[in-house]
Amino acid sequence: VEAALVSGPLKGKHIIVTSGPTHEPIDPVRYIANRSSGAQGTAIARALAALGAEVTFITGPAEVDPPVGMAVRRVNTANEMLAAVTSALPADAAVFAAAVADWRVASASDSKIKKDGSGALPVLEFAENPDILATVSKMKKDRPNLVVGFAAETDDVIAHATAKLERKGCDWIVANDVSPETGIMGGAENAVTVISADGADNWPRMTKAAVSERLAAKIAEALS
Ligand code: CTP
Ligand code: CA
Repeated sequence: VEAALVSGPLKGKHIIVTSGPTHEPIDPVRYIANRSSGAQGTAIARALAALGAEVTFITGPAEVDPPVGMAVRRVNTANEMLAAVTSALPADAAVFAAAVADWRVASASDSKIKKDGSGALPVLEFAENPDILATVSKMKKDRPNLVVGFAAETDDVIAHATAKLERKGCDWIVANDVSPETGIMGGAENAVTVISADGADNWPRMTKAAVSERLAAKIAEALS
């Protein structure tokens, strides 16, 4: 079924979804990245499309295959992801599920860095990447009506996520506890709290697909 033919509560709505990690080159063969399979972002894009949304899916080099039946833009770096998001605007909503690398190597080498045999260690200088979620949330023109961010935390989940909501200026933050003992990182399930100006909504632990369906339904309600 072509996505454009699907009817549903999100028919006629354009939604941008970012997903996966970004890879920031050190040299042509090495990079730094966050850990991210891309599973949650991919599931969200599918769930939004199933409700009739026209989805632009912008993904870093993820482990899972991108969803079919929608526009897919593949990027590597945070700067490329920001450019892809900006060029996909305007949108009714944007869901930033990507695990964007916070820093890039300030001047990546065009040639492979070689060990010189002396045991000397390379020293990498970093630069901060643009914050895509904050940039879009603070846009004067073209800001989507609904901007949703994620916060994967290992402690004080709600406090950190609420601070992020305020700092970045988005409408909702989908927060989760990714401490090793939860087994959430890289797994099939997720347990999230959706935080907005109205407060914190605790969802029980469920599959990433179920989290995505519930989030898509909540987005449909907010945009209606
Ligand atoms: N995000 C983004 N661009 C960045 C960093 C993060 O768009 N350069 C988005 C993520 O996609 C996510 C949200 O911001 O939706 C929160 O990401 P997170 O890494 O938790 O926030 P940071 O502000 O980077 O804070 P931390 O120091 O905890 O990594
Ligand atoms: Ca970060």
